Amino acid sequence: MRAMPVDVKSLIQQGAELTDRALESLLPSVDTIPSSIHSAMRHSTFAGGKRLRPVLAMQAAVAMAGAIPSGIENLGAAIEMLHTYSLIHDDLPALDNDELRRGKPTCHVAFGEAIAILAGDALQTRAFEVLAGLACPPEATVKIIGLIANAVGTVDGMIGGQVLDIESEHQKPTPQLVEAIHRAKTGALIRVSVVAGGVFAGATATDVASLDIFGRKAGLAFQIVDDVLDMTVDSAQLGKTAGKDLATEKATWPAVFGIEQSQRDAADLIEEAFAALAPFGSRADGLKSVARYLVERKN
Ligand code: IPE
Ligand code: IPE
Ligand code: MG
Ligand code: MG
Ligand code: MG
Repeated sequence: MRAMPVDVKSLIQQGAELTDRALESLLPSVDTIPSSIHSAMRHSTFAGGKRLRPVLAMQAAVAMAGAIPSGIENLGAAIEMLHTYSLIHDDLPALDNDELRRGKPTCHVAFGEAIAILAGDALQTRAFEVLAGLACPPEATVKIIGLIANAVGTVDGMIGGQVLDIESEHQKPTPQLVEAIHRAKTGALIRVSVVAGGVFAGATATDVASLDIFGRKAGLAFQIVDDVLDMTVDSAQLGKTAGKDLATEKATWPAVFGIEQSQRDAADLIEEAFAALAPFGSRADGLKSVARYLVERKN
């Protein structure tokens, strides 16, 4: 049976609005003392991110429950805080040294390095505080916190991936190395967004296994596309400085496989990811359409 077409733009917009409203109420106001850090946290959080990880969490929940469960926007907001923290630190002079992010000056350019480092730290701790208060059964909350902490950590998680990424600059990457970097630095948070969304909505162990396969493949595809966009789209459209990866000789997918093969690999991974969603039938149409968007996006 052919899936009903889903209007992915409105689905993403709906998820992004829910996430933005939650972030607005969960982050301290700019008048809260110390005001500089709260301004910095808000500067980076509200600079215009796509909110794709919260949307993936919401659509994974829809695949379980048939509708967006109330309260999941706080899960999405916490994930977005963690993602924004990773971006603030990724842009620091000691890491990628970038001055443009989400079309705005990076956090350290606007607020100085000390406040940017602390704003990243603060987004991370606030995220876990929000997760601790999620409106789902306590066992699900504890499971989500454990999975997310693991996904941002050092073993196959975001921080570990960032370490590999930095240490692999100016070297000829192997396929194995670039895959390990991408799965960890970016794939892990995407994958856990999908899984946590499912767990929030009552996923069984079998459901989690399917969502995990989907998230793994979609997460890798996402970073492959990020690498391709860095080489094929200009800074104005990207909202970040284009061409940086080549300039710093980063270990990217196109550096190993070329642009065309990278585009094919991303598309193939998404097709493979869809297969994992077969048990959910048409309830996963939203999740599929967001996954397709991950590889068709232009920024
Ligand atoms: C960019 O992520 C950084 C990576 C992990 C590749 P996004 O492309 O989701 O960035 P925003 O959130 O829309 O700014
Ligand atoms: C970023 O990878 C991954 C994380 C922030 C964890 P990149 O360094 O490729 O991301 P961009 O291109 O700066 O957004
Ligand atoms: Mg980086
Ligand atoms: Mg970067
Ligand atoms: Mg990049």
